[in-house]
Amino acid sequence: MDIDLADLGFWRRPLAERHEAFTRLRRLDTPVFFEEKRVPLLRSGKGFYALVRHADVVEASRNAKVFSSEPAVTNPEPPGWVKHVFGESMVNMDDPRHARLRRIVSRAFSPKMLSNLQGDIDKACTRIVDDVVAAGPGGDFVTRVAARLPIHVICDMMGIPDAMREKVHRHVDVSTAYTGVRPSLPQTLRMAGQNMLALLALQRMVIELGRERAREPRGDLVSALVTANVDGERLTDRELGSFFALLLVAGNETARNTMAHGIRLLTDNPDQRELLLADFDGRIGGAIEEMVRHVSPIMQFRRTVTQDYDLRGLHLKPGDKVVLFYGSANRDEAVFPDPDRFDITRDAKAHVGFGGPGPHFCLGANLARQEIRTMFRELFTRLPGIRSVGEPELLLSNFDNSVRTQRFTF
Ligand code: HEM
Repeated sequence: MDIDLADLGFWRRPLAERHEAFTRLRRLDTPVFFEEKRVPLLRSGKGFYALVRHADVVEASRNAKVFSSEPAVTNPEPPGWVKHVFGESMVNMDDPRHARLRRIVSRAFSPKMLSNLQGDIDKACTRIVDDVVAAGPGGDFVTRVAARLPIHVICDMMGIPDAMREKVHRHVDVSTAYTGVRPSLPQTLRMAGQNMLALLALQRMVIELGRERAREPRGDLVSALVTANVDGERLTDRELGSFFALLLVAGNETARNTMAHGIRLLTDNPDQRELLLADFDGRIGGAIEEMVRHVSPIMQFRRTVTQDYDLRGLHLKPGDKVVLFYGSANRDEAVFPDPDRFDITRDAKAHVGFGGPGPHFCLGANLARQEIRTMFRELFTRLPGIRSVGEPELLLSNFDNSVRTQRFTF
C-alpha cells in the first residue's frame, strides 16, 4: 500500500490527498498496522493500528479501561523524560487520577463560569474587529483575528494579571511552533528544547501566581483551583502548572484553527454562507459543529491497549497501540453522507472532533463554541463582506490541522 501514516511525509501531502487515502483505509475490513521507526530520545518505535472508521473511534474512546490514555495520548509516543519534566496532564491519565483532576478543574467550565466569561469574550471580539476595521482590508486572518481570541480567553478565565500576559503570549508562540513536522532530527531536537523551556516557564509563572492566590484568594479561577473545596480537594503546584499548560495547548490552536478554516469554508461555499447570514442565531450552532467535523482541528490521539480485546476482526493484546484518526472518523460515509461536502444544515452532532464519547471528551467544547459563535457574530455583523482570499498556508503537522496563514479581505 502506498499509504504510511507513521511516515511524517504523509502529513506533507495536500489535505485532499490525505482524505482520499483515509477513504481507502476505511474501506478495508480490519484496521491496518503501521510500523514506526525508533528515534532515540524522541520515539519509542512501537507502531500502531490505525482506527479510521467512526464506529471504531467511538468504541475505543468509550472503553477507557481497555483503551488507556496512559502513558500518553500523543503520537508518536513521547519518551518517559517528557513526562518527568512536564509533570502530568489529565489528558494522559486514566481514572481514578484522571477523574479526581477532572472533578477539580471542571469548576472552570461550569455553565455559570462560562456565562460569566461572555462579557469578556464580547469585549475581546469587539476590540479585535475594531483593530481589523482600523487597519483596513487585507492581511492575515490568523494573526489579526483567529489567534488573538483563544489565548486571551484562557488568560481571562485563569485570572492571569495584565502584566504577565505579554510573557504568556511569547512563551505560547514558541511552544506552539513545535507542533509542526520538521525535516531534520537536529531541527526537531532544537525546537523540542525551545518548546520545553517555554512550557516550563509558563508553568513556573502560574505556580507563582497560585502561591500568591493561595495566600490571598480572589474571585478568579487560579484562586478556586488552589484553595480546597468542600471535599478538601485542590490542585498541587505541579498539577496547576500542568493544567495551565494543557489549557494553552488544548484550547488555543484548536479554536483558532477552527475559525481560520471556518472563514475559508464559508467563503468557498457561498450558498452555506448565505444560509448562515439569513438566520445567524438559528444556524450558527449547526455551522460550528459542521466546521469542527469538516476541519477536525485535532487529527489524532493515541491509546494503549490494557487487555486482550477483539475489535472489528482484529485481536489486540496488552501493550498494543491504536491511534484514533478523528479526521477520518468525521468523514466516515457510514455516518455522514457525502462527507466532503460542507453543509451547515446537516446533522453533524455525532462528529468526534471534540473526541469520542467517554471520560476524556473535550472539557472546553462549550467554551470553544462560545468563542467561535461570538467571533463570527461580531465579524459578520460589522464586516458582512469579510472573506478569505486564496489558499491557506498549513503548518506541517501530524497532530494539529493548523493554519499558519490565511489571507482575507472585507
Ligand atoms: C474547536 C476547539 C477544540 C477542539 C477540536 C478540541 C478537541 C479536543 C479533543 C479531541 C480532546 C479529547 C482528548 C482525548 O480523548 O484523549 C480534547 C480534550 C480536552 N480539551 Fe479540547 N478541543 C477544543 C477546544 C478546547 C478549549 C477551548 C479548551 C479549554 C480552554 C479545551 C480543553 C480541553 C481539555 C482540558 C481536555 C482534556 C480532557 C480530559 O482529558 O478529560 N479544549 N479536546
